[in-house]
This record gives sequence, C-alpha cells and structure tokens, in this order.
Amino acid sequence: MNYRNEVEIIEIGPRDGFQNVTEFIATNKKKEIIEKLIDAGIRRMQLTSFVSPKHIPQMQDAEEIVKYFLEKYKDIRFFALVPNYRGAKRAFDIGLREITYVISVSEGHNKANVNRSVDESFEELKQIIEEFPELYVNLDAATVFGCPFDGEVTYEQLEKYVEKAVKIGITTINLCDTIGVANPTQVRNVVENLLEKFPNIEFHIHIHDTRNMGMLNSYVAIESGIKHIQASIGGMGGCPFAPGASGNLSTEDFVYMLDKVNIGTGIDFKKLLQVAKECKKTIPGVYSGHHINIDEDLICVF
Ligand code: COA
Ligand code: ZN
Repeated sequence: MNYRNEVEIIEIGPRDGFQNVTEFIATNKKKEIIEKLIDAGIRRMQLTSFVSPKHIPQMQDAEEIVKYFLEKYKDIRFFALVPNYRGAKRAFDIGLREITYVISVSEGHNKANVNRSVDESFEELKQIIEEFPELYVNLDAATVFGCPFDGEVTYEQLEKYVEKAVKIGITTINLCDTIGVANPTQVRNVVENLLEKFPNIEFHIHIHDTRNMGMLNSYVAIESGIKHIQASIGGMGGCPFAPGASGNLSTEDFVYMLDKVNIGTGIDFKKLLQVAKECKKTIPGVYSGHHINIDEDLICVF
C-alpha cells in the first residue's frame, strides 16, 4: 500500500496544548507559535476554544486569535472547539465558519467536561446545526477508548453515539483517546468497524500519549484507513477535566516517522522541531515529544 500524500496532519496544540497550561501565555506569543506552525507547512489547525473563561482562563483571547488569523491567512483551514451554543455563537460572530463541538461517549466525562448529560449535549448540537447552517461542525467524540470516570466504553455504545450524530447531520467525527488508554488492537477494531459501517463519514483520530502509545496507535489508525491525524506540537496537552490525562501525540515525532516510511504530509520536520523546541523553552507545560529532548547536534536527518 502506498500512503503518499494521503495523510493530513491536523495541528491542535494551540487548543489542546495551550489549554492545559495554567500560566497565561501572552496572546502575541500564541500568534508567533501559530505563524511558525503555518510556516512549517501546517494547513489545518485548531486555533483555540470558545469556552467559559472561568473554566479555562487560558482561552480568554479566543476572539482576538481567530480574528487575526482569519484576516491574515485565507488558505489555511482554521477551526476552534466549542462546548455549547454560546461558544458556537461566539465563533460564528467573529467570522469563523468551522468548529468542533465536543461530546464524550461516556456520561461521566461529559458531565465533568461540559456539565451536561450526553443527551443534553446532543440536543444543543442539534440547535447549533439548525441555527447556523453556514457553520461546518466537526464532532469530537471524547473518551472513545475509555473513560476516567466510567471505565470501559464499549463498541456498541460508540456505534449508537455515531448513529445519533449522523442522524442530525454530522459528517466529520474525531475519535479521541482523551486519557491515552487505547491499544493498537482496539484502535484497529474500532476504526475498521466504523469505516465499514459509516463509509461516508470522515473519521479523524486524536490520541493522548499518556502511556507512550501515541505513535503506535496513530500509525495503526492510518493502516486501518484513517487519513486525518490530530497531533500537538511538542506533544503538549491534556484535558483539564480528565484526571490522569497527559500529553498528546507529538506532531514533530509523528511527521518524522511518516517521512521515514514514505507517507507524505507536506510538513517540514526541521522547521516543526524548531517550533517545538521554542515552545518547550518558553511555555511551561507537559511535553510528551521525544525529538524535543535531543541535542541539536545529535539530530541526524538522513
Ligand atoms: N463562552 C464564554 N462564557 C461562557 C460560555 C462560553 N462558551 N459558556 C458559558 N459561559 C459562562 C456563562 O455565561 C457563565 O458565566 P457567569 O457565571 O458569569 O454567568 C459561566 O460561564 C458558567 O456558565 P454555565 O452555563 O452555568 O456553564 P457551566 O458552569 O455549566 O459550564 C461549560 C459549562 C461548557 C461552559 C463549561 O463546562 C466549559 O467551558 N467547559 C470547558 C470544556 C473544555 O474546554 N474542555 C477541554 C476540551 S475537551
Ligand atoms: Zn485531547
């Protein structure tokens, strides 16, 4: 199988990475990092989230960030995460036309994350779709592979969730391993079953690296047919409302590996690595990346 240019890397560090940093990162610093990511070749990126600033103060500059990038770059696919109707309206009002709405597959995490039952979140999603027909809505399915509160999430539970989403018009679903508990067999089974059952849905994958399985699980997802991989610069990240969650799949490590196995991404590894190193130097947080810790002189790209 030749995967060349078939895989799209979706950078989510400016949202999933930054949201987990307690100390406020200056808006100009965020802009600088995001611009460098674009310069490295990122073409689809989650810029921020329109959430309650009481719950996540780090994202209080969402409007400013989105406005700046929408005005400056016309050829990049920018989107932002929203947890409720209020967030969708804020995103729409500032000019964004693509969002991600988040609903966990498990009740326990949905309650902790957005203070709603799964059904209540779906009701609100329906309202957003009806009221903002110009908005492209991706759905983040959190806790697909396991929940920190409810434990195991079954495939049957997931399939029902996807059916519900499809019924109200969702066409892109991001399979999130929120706390990094997925294993390769589980990823393969889940992805193969979903792709067979829902051939018209664009599935993405989003793996946390809590147990050092980010690379493997994301690679297995590609082998199983996924073409859109979410990753975070430096491996920054973690959900503040999921105990035990730590860094994401690191964008630069994954791009490096894909380069080696001849899967084109259009992204410049060396530039990406420089961005990751700069993040680590200037932003305190959780980093699960590996290249980020290798001395400049010892990185051999051959
Ligand atoms: N943007 C800005 N403010 C918002 C908001 C939004 N999208 N949604 C709610 N608020 C404000 C409300 O106005 C209210 O403010 P007030 O106390 O000054 O009146 C406050 O936040 C609480 O609102 P409420 O509707 O009672 O929400 P809640 O306390 O039940 O929390 C969420 C619900 C969804 C707003 C909150 O859980 C949240 O923002 N979670 C973030 C989830 C997240 O980003 N997780 C990580 C990514 S998966
Ligand atoms: Zn995440």
